Formats: sequence, structure tokens, C-alpha cells
Amino acid sequence: MGIIMGLRVGVLGVGPVGEHIVRILKERKFPVDGAITIMATSERCEIIDGNQVIVKKACEAIFKKLDLVFFAGKEGAKGASMEWSDIALKSGCVVIDNGGDLRMYPHIPLVIPEINMDTVTKDTRLICNPNCSTIQMALALYPLHKASRLRRVIVSTYQSVGGHSGAAMELLKTQLGQALSGERVQEDQTVFAHPAAFNCIPHIDRFEKSGYTREEMKMVNETRKIFNEPNLLISATTVRVPVLVGHSESINAEFMESMRADKAIEILSDPVRSPGVVCIDGITDNKASVELRHDPLERQYPVISDIKKDEWKDAVLVGRIRDDMTAPNAINMWCVADNLRKGAAANAVQIAEGMLEKGLI
Ligand SMILES: NC(=O)c1ccc[n+]([C@@H]2O[C@H](COP(=O)([O-])OP(=O)(O)OC[C@H]3O[C@@H](n4cnc5c(N)ncnc54)[C@H](OP(=O)(O)O)[C@@H]3O)[C@@H](O)[C@H]2O)c1
Repeated sequence: MGIIMGLRVGVLGVGPVGEHIVRILKERKFPVDGAITIMATSERCEIIDGNQVIVKKACEAIFKKLDLVFFAGKEGAKGASMEWSDIALKSGCVVIDNGGDLRMYPHIPLVIPEINMDTVTKDTRLICNPNCSTIQMALALYPLHKASRLRRVIVSTYQSVGGHSGAAMELLKTQLGQALSGERVQEDQTVFAHPAAFNCIPHIDRFEKSGYTREEMKMVNETRKIFNEPNLLISATTVRVPVLVGHSESINAEFMESMRADKAIEILSDPVRSPGVVCIDGITDNKASVELRHDPLERQYPVISDIKKDEWKDAVLVGRIRDDMTAPNAINMWCVADNLRKGAAANAVQIAEGMLEKGLI
């Protein structure tokens, strides 16, 4: 193996996603030449991943000194991608973008490394990271799709406020404190249309004319692009729940060819066939819990607190895999992942690692 030289790496945006990118680059010992250059809309000093760092105001001169930049800024017209991606590319950087502005351009690869790293070629300079709710559903479904070809997917999500922004996480903490101490819950309508504390809000991102939200359509369109299946039938309902970090999803999947719960469990339990997936299913082997809850059929299944475990922090955890009793070749399943790690930062760093491995940067 040749020696991998360090790259001059930048991170644009210091919200939870930007901070996780910095943390994960260090955790995974990504070869960085010098310190990571951290940028945002203004220059200041900040504590990022436990260290005091100078955050620089993004400008063309900085991009000219970098090889690889992770974008973790806001979306939309004044967002980081629209303002800086062309400048970064012209300055010679490879860009990995977490935002949603550029994902559906046909010439821009939308990548989950375990599924479609082959769409990144020697000419690729800009790669998009899919949406957090898309990544975990796609990773859980792809091995089953390869085995029996998906026909139709119906998904409902339970998404944490951390999927919105750092500001949304602070808002939930404040609102929970207010609600628990009997104070009036203060809303911030620029973040959520309803109080987040003790609430479930079926409204993530803006509404489209069809009545679906953009988040729901991201799950449809991005999965079709990643699987290269433009006609795949997907129907999504996305819901914000009062959890700080970690998304859960309930998925009903129907296949063209034979599929049963036991076959799905076998595939999803095989790390070679299902990279990045951990299957937690079956009758529980914890005798104490059976005695406490008097349920001899009690089963194991993943929950958000499991993604705090070091060995599972970057995985998609699946479980509650059952035959759909209303249709042949159809199953129901549950999946859980860390939206800030595999749903954003870890996936982005894995893309960069994949490019390094292929000698593309
Ligand atoms: N959170 C998730 O689970 C998740 C998952 C997948 C993808 N994403 C996407 O990842 C991105 C970051 O998410 P987040 O939750 O970390 O966001 P956030 O908390 O809103 O933080 C955004 C950061 O980007 C900076 N920024 C915004 N516009 C900029 C611009 N035009 N130029 C330079 N910097 C700019 C902001 O700078 P200032 O601090 O100076 O204001 C801020 O530091 C978003 O596009 C989001 O949609 C998030």
C-alpha cells in the first residue's frame, strides 16, 4: 500500500453536523495535513468537539488553500452550497455537501458508500450526502432489494429535532424545562410550527402542492436515485418527535420476488451482504426481563439509546422484522440510526475515505 499524504481539509458550518464531521475525521484518523480549517458566516472563537478553535469567515482565499471541503451549512438561496460550492470547486477543492440543494442534479453523485460508491469517478469533484432519513432507510432496504427486488415501500418516520439544526435542539431543551416546571412553553415559529416538547409534528421541511412535505419527497426521490430505480414506489410520512438525536423509522416493504421475515433477518444479519447494518431481532435471551414483564415471547429490538454504544454508533440498527400478514412477499421492519453520524457526518467522511481508497483525491 502506498503512503497516503495528508489532505488540506476544511469544514464549512459549525452546527451539529459540522462539529460531528470534525469529531469523526479525528476518530477515524482521516489523513489531514495540519489543522482542519473551520468556516462559518463570521470569524470567532468557538469550542468545537471540546477544543477551542478559530472559526474563520468563509472566503475564496481560504478555499484556494484546501483540497477537500465538507459542507455542513444551511440550505436555500443564502445557504452554504448556493453561496460557496462553485467557488470551492473553481478553487480546486473536492466538495462533499450535506445539504439538500444539489442532491437531485443528475450529474452529481448522491452517495451512500455501502451502496453506490461506484458512481464516484475520476471526474467527480462534488458529491452529495443524502438526507438523514433517506440514508438509514436505503441502507436497511438495499440488501433486501438486491435479493428480491423492491416493488413498493411505505415508511413513517420518528425524527429527532437534531435533524433540523443545533437551534432546534436548544429549543427542545428549553421547552422541556418550561413544560416540566409548569411555565408557559415558548415557541419559535421560525423553527417548528408547534411546540416540540411532548409533541409529534407531522411536518418536516416545507409543504409541496401535493400535500407531501419536502422531507417526504426527499425520501422518495433520493432513494430512487441511489438505487438507480426511477420508478420505485415509495410513500412517506415524516414526523418530528421530541428526541434530541436519533431517527427511527417504521418500514413496510413489498418485493417482486419471494421475501419472508426469516429471509430478511438472515440477509440483514450477514455483514457481508448487509454492510453497515446490524440486525437486532429474535426472542430475548434476557431471563430477568421476561420475569419482570411476564412475557415469554418478549423480543429484542433496537432503540435510539442503542446508537450511543460505541460499536453501533455509525450503524443502521434494524429489528421488529415481521411478515406482513396482508400481502405476500412483504415485511414490516423498524430501523434506528444516529442522524448526525451515519445520517450525515459519518457518511460524508466515509465518502471521502472511499475517494482516497480509489485514488480520486
Ligand atoms: N442535522 C442532521 O441530522 C442533518 C442530516 C443530514 C443533513 N443535514 C444537513 O446538514 C447541514 C447542516 O446541518 P446542521 O443541523 O449542522 O445546521 P445548523 O445547526 O443550522 O448549522 C449551520 C452552520 O452553517 C453555517 N452556514 C450557514 N449558511 C452559511 C453560508 N452561506 N456560508 C457559510 N456558513 C454558513 C452556519 O454559520 P453561523 O454559525 O455563522 O450562522 C452554521 O454554523 C444542513 O444543510 C442540513 O440540512 C443535517
